[in-house]
Amino acid sequence: MKPLVYVTRKIPEEVLSRLQENYEVDMWPKEEVQVPRDMLLDKAKTADALLTVISDQLDEELFSQSEHLKVVANMAVGYDNVDLAAASKHGVAICNTPDVLTDTTADLAFALLLATARRMVEAAEYLKRGKWKSWSPMLLSGTDVHHKTIGIIGMGKIGTAVAKRAAGFDMEIIYHNRSRHEVAEEMLGARYCTKEELLAEADFVVCLAPLTDETKGMFGREQFQQMKKHAIFINASRGPIVDEEALYKALVEGDIAAAGLDVFHEEPVSPDHPLVQLDNVVALPHIGSASRETRLAMMELCCDNLDAIFADRTPKTLVNKDVLNSNR
Ligand code: GLV
Repeated sequence: MKPLVYVTRKIPEEVLSRLQENYEVDMWPKEEVQVPRDMLLDKAKTADALLTVISDQLDEELFSQSEHLKVVANMAVGYDNVDLAAASKHGVAICNTPDVLTDTTADLAFALLLATARRMVEAAEYLKRGKWKSWSPMLLSGTDVHHKTIGIIGMGKIGTAVAKRAAGFDMEIIYHNRSRHEVAEEMLGARYCTKEELLAEADFVVCLAPLTDETKGMFGREQFQQMKKHAIFINASRGPIVDEEALYKALVEGDIAAAGLDVFHEEPVSPDHPLVQLDNVVALPHIGSASRETRLAMMELCCDNLDAIFADRTPKTLVNKDVLNSNR
């Protein structure tokens, strides 16, 4: 009998047919609506594998009830939606999708920086609403990006790819990370700083750190007040790293100039959220890796990981390596 895979979002036909070759596939039929929690718990009870997205919470409650579950292929590089200890305890392998999304996510983070600095969303709206009456010297003037200082918090693969793009804009690159990144230092001239130094020096503060107990709430009132008044803050990692109320205050009271946000505490964020309503905020619906090529590559990698588990091989991008010692 083929293993049963439950897929928690509608996926394109080409990926679905690949899965159907080797598995019995059950799929939540909607693309933009999340599978209800009860349904997810219920489906996981009989599934051998899950193909999930970051808004699915995978926790002790789910793993403890899912006797057959061997593997979860989570379609994301981040896995803060998964309780890894609970997964390992119940012998469930957790796989993510790093690497294939690095450049695409870096493109988006840098595009968000450019769009925020050059007020592109505001300008496009201005034109669409028929407000453009004449060319005028200071109309919608933003701030330059080239030759400025970018401060990258989280110099992992995506952070390094953003630094490469910044180097192409002749930016000075400073960074803060848990460990030094010698390649970025040698190849891109990136300079390691303490977090405080980075906040004080950067014209653009770009957050690309993963969400962990240490990074949760890392940007609060104090951090925004340490930044330059003309600083622009970009968050393309996870919403809970930022205290959104503090960010709102910083933007309204002029502690910083603007923000570009691809992620929020609660997703989907309401269009009425005070941050989303500000003119000096460019807000996007968590689309860091959303190019067609990359999303397909992420799904293919999920399929490769499932295939590895059911062929008794180690998946390419297994997160909880300690699960290999379990005998499920
Ligand atoms: C998306 O946010 C991801 O972690 O891939």
